[in-house]
Amino acid sequence: MYMCLEGIDGSGKSTQTALLEKWLQNCGLQVFRIFEPTDSKVGLLIREMLQDPGATDENFQRTLALLFAADRTILMEKIAHAESEGQIVVSDRCFYSSMVYQDGAEWIGEINRFVRKPDVTLLLDLDPETAMTRCEGSDSFEDLNFLMRTRSRYLELAEKEGFFILNANNGINKVHEDIKRVIAPKLGMCI
Ligand SMILES: Nc1ncnc2c1ncn2[C@@H]1O[C@H](COP(=O)(O)OP(=O)(O)OP(=O)(O)O)[C@@H](O)[C@H]1O
Ligand SMILES: [Mg+2]
Repeated sequence: MYMCLEGIDGSGKSTQTALLEKWLQNCGLQVFRIFEPTDSKVGLLIREMLQDPGATDENFQRTLALLFAADRTILMEKIAHAESEGQIVVSDRCFYSSMVYQDGAEWIGEINRFVRKPDVTLLLDLDPETAMTRCEGSDSFEDLNFLMRTRSRYLELAEKEGFFILNANNGINKVHEDIKRVIAPKLGMCI
């Protein structure tokens, strides 16, 4: 089982994937927790490139999308291996992030041809104003605008792809409980 948490910056993906891992482990399951970009050589290059303040032009964004697809393709091997050992894969971001950040461009599907979609995707849906308060250094009108656009793309994609949408404005524990309620039946567990 490959499950993924998606959402705009500050929506709580890192917080909740860590809690989800802990809960599953406490239930006696083995978990392979991953995040994108990964810590592969390609993932490290992506992280470095994301630090570039001048990284806004279109070709730079295309290059990033290509690198994300490469990083993800490498990841597929690791996911398959973990699953073959009976581990539950919990991912912080996945293919859908590329869809959202590249506005559903057709070529994103093409360059991610070797990538598997998660079995379950949960969207942590957060109000962009709240996201601004949670993200250090986000204070401009452009930042807010970007978060608003990104959030609405996530909601569109959620409809199309059947994500579980959770209200990430709630407190950390409540969001965790909501995630458990979605995941438990998928794994045949009671909560
Ligand atoms: N439900 C919540 N209520 C209040 N604060 C939260 C909640 N969830 C997370 N936070 C806080 O908001 C900040 C961002 O959370 P987190 O890093 O988990 O988000 P993220 O989705 O991983 O962000 P990014 O996309 O930037 O990696 C952290 O300081 C975290 O402690
Ligand atoms: Mg994070």
